[in-house]
Amino acid sequence: DEPAAVSATGRDSHAPRNVRAQSSGFLTTAQGTRVADGDHSLKAGPRGPVLLQDHHLREKITHFDHERIPERVVHARGAAAHGVFRGYGTAGEVCRAAFLAEGVETPVFVRFSTVLGSRGSADTVRDTRGFATKFYTTDGVFDLVGNNIPVFFIQDAIKFPDVVHAAKPHPDREIPQAQSAHDTFWDFVSLHTEATHHTIWNMSDRGIPRSFRMMEGFGVHTFRLVNAEGASSLVKFHWKPRAGVHSLVWEEAQLLNGMDPDFHRRDLADAIEAGAFPAWELGIQVFPDTPEQTFQGIDLLDPTKFVPEELAPVRPLGLMTLNANPTNYFAETEQVAFHPGHLVPGIDVTDDPLLAGRLFSYLDTQITRLGGPNFAQIPINRTHAPVNDMLRDGFHQDAVHTGVAPYKPNSLDGGCPFFAGSADHAFIEYPTPIAAAAKVREAPASFADHFSQPRMFWLSLSPVEQQHVIAAYTFELTKVHEQAIKERALTVLANIDAGLCAEVASGLGLPVPAATVEPASASPSPALSQLGASWPTQ
Ligand code: HEM
Repeated sequence: DEPAAVSATGRDSHAPRNVRAQSSGFLTTAQGTRVADGDHSLKAGPRGPVLLQDHHLREKITHFDHERIPERVVHARGAAAHGVFRGYGTAGEVCRAAFLAEGVETPVFVRFSTVLGSRGSADTVRDTRGFATKFYTTDGVFDLVGNNIPVFFIQDAIKFPDVVHAAKPHPDREIPQAQSAHDTFWDFVSLHTEATHHTIWNMSDRGIPRSFRMMEGFGVHTFRLVNAEGASSLVKFHWKPRAGVHSLVWEEAQLLNGMDPDFHRRDLADAIEAGAFPAWELGIQVFPDTPEQTFQGIDLLDPTKFVPEELAPVRPLGLMTLNANPTNYFAETEQVAFHPGHLVPGIDVTDDPLLAGRLFSYLDTQITRLGGPNFAQIPINRTHAPVNDMLRDGFHQDAVHTGVAPYKPNSLDGGCPFFAGSADHAFIEYPTPIAAAAKVREAPASFADHFSQPRMFWLSLSPVEQQHVIAAYTFELTKVHEQAIKERALTVLANIDAGLCAEVASGLGLPVPAATVEPASASPSPALSQLGASWPTQ
């Protein structure tokens, strides 16, 4: 029997609701009253004045006045597509999530984005790209909210407002849009050297992708997977594009910004419309879930570090194909709400301090952006699993709940016990021990290594790719006005590599500073220093 208080948020209510949105063959008011003249307001005679009693006029203008919702505080500009994910059945050893089983097909919705620009900014700017995937699994929604760069700017969520304030346009003149070429950006990343690794990826070809279809995606944080026996592993998620990884060169990116600011969203929509469906393989790097949560000297809780694939190969789990464009940008691409805490049985989080802040931030911001706490009922956000959540009322409540006892357990509405199958519920809260320690505001010692991985990345690049990085740093830093910021940014480069620093200093016409960190002591792990120049980026 259906419990009495099931909310009307299932997939079934999607179609009738849309039909009801525009079902009349006649122009009507929002109340369904037919309207004979949509071109003239009601006036006292042809020359007016216009009468306040014209409800159709007032309703139309009032609704128009409220058409805009706030853009996302970051990742405001995006493009999205529907598709399907098909599991290979290769995950069972480490993860019990049902949607990863062999042959299981799960509908998905993917939104790609830039981070810094506003909703109307250009596509081919130098920036990180978001890669957020909503899996509508039979066990509820799983969101993999990732980026196209495998590391992040900061290590602790408390700094997120700071890095975004520094990277967004200056607050006085609101320039520049979606570019890192300005004082506050370089002030922040040269003062907070944990940002060095993400910054050098931004300055590389990865910062100007050729197409959303040709980008890798990364979950960035380490996640915890749990298998059917209850054993846990630590993993990092990867998306590998079937079309390969390709970038623009800077001149192309700049020309496209002017000639076709919609270049990336047009490319995605056109490819799907033409039947050239983009596809990505989902994979994981797997690490033992040890108390230290490190792998070969790399701290798995530090989101500014990643694990080279030579040390931990990516194991494929399934294939995602995007095969349909959205019907309505606002309804789908704009109103979709991703959240790293949307998890399904078999997938859990770790104690990465950046992830902890994200688990708070997305729901919080969406309550403002989407006008209240009921946005899970918006069609694009609806789970395909049955819902019985005891959440009631609030702005934009769409469900008509029945029953008298919106609490569990109860003895009035048929009881509806909590789910009894302990193996199948989400929020596994894997029983990792928590060290008995004093409350502190500090980071682990390994978080202080800010240069070994940027150096490894730099050494892995081909000479042409290195030239692009040098040109990017030089171009961006020439836009900085404060001499002291340029000099500090050069010192950061000296800590990565003396040659890189010398080239950029020469481009800026500035002296070459000395490194403040010894390169030899910069690597926390023998494995990393051995990899050196041979590590490929693709
Ligand atoms: C969007 C916060 C780090 C990927 C957002 C939004 C917020 C936010 C408030 C807008 C959400 C909305 O309005 O719906 C944060 C905070 C972070 C953080 C507080 C760190 C403390 C990250 C990291 C990644 C990431 C590390 C990548 C792994 C994304 C993506 C979106 C997004 C892809 C766009 C989602 C979409 O397409 O709607 N973030 N973020 N964020 N964030 Fe983060």
